[in-house]
Amino acid sequence: METHTHWETVHQSKACDALSWYVPHLGESLRLIEQLCPDRAGAVIDVGGGESTLVDDLLERQYGDVSVLDLSATAIDFTRQRLGERAQQVGWSVGDVTRHDFGAKQFDLWHDRAVFHFLTDAASRRAYVDQVRRSVKPGGHVVMATFGPQGPLQCSGLDVVRYDDQHLHGEFGAGFQLLGSELMQHHTPMGTDQQFLYCWCRVAH
Ligand SMILES: C[S@@+](CC[C@H](N)C(=O)[O-])C[C@H]1O[C@@H](n2cnc3c(N)ncnc32)[C@H](O)[C@@H]1O
Repeated sequence: METHTHWETVHQSKACDALSWYVPHLGESLRLIEQLCPDRAGAVIDVGGGESTLVDDLLERQYGDVSVLDLSATAIDFTRQRLGERAQQVGWSVGDVTRHDFGAKQFDLWHDRAVFHFLTDAASRRAYVDQVRRSVKPGGHVVMATFGPQGPLQCSGLDVVRYDDQHLHGEFGAGFQLLGSELMQHHTPMGTDQQFLYCWCRVAH
């Protein structure tokens, strides 16, 4: 099945809190975003944001330039509706992060939880990193969350790549300064645990 169709089907057929990656709030992501981009005027993008409440929580914390991109129009519509009038404060895009045209827009902080690890071919990963290089301001930050070395081999029926910090940073390479990383356990709604790796870095000037 084509990737786009896969994700549309997932978002159309399951409630958000029945998805294995669901958490009510992305606490670790929020903590890192507030630490790395304390300026509420900073431009923050959540790529593959899906139905997560990260955007709600960023608006709640007075971030004024928030964007969400997802491959699935269903996921974007669901999240917009949940936000009601507040959705007007957000820049919404439906598209593939490896190909999306961000135009002249550049971000202070790029956040990805559980999208990059689905890129199992090297060409897609290179395209993704090129997008980050083009779309994040010099001196801006990147927060990535992927499955860790002990994480699952598949998610949502799709193969994934598992990462430790050196492997993930190696995908980004020169031009990115690794600032920190940590492994954490995600408790799925099904009662199982999944190891995630958070890595954060700065884009060189
Ligand atoms: C595992 S979910 C994670 C959702 C959210 N980041 C979270 O942590 O709750 C992956 C999300 O990425 C989206 N997605 C998958 N591949 C994508 C791509 N190439 N470009 C943009 N979004 C993508 C899916 O539609 C889905 O919403």
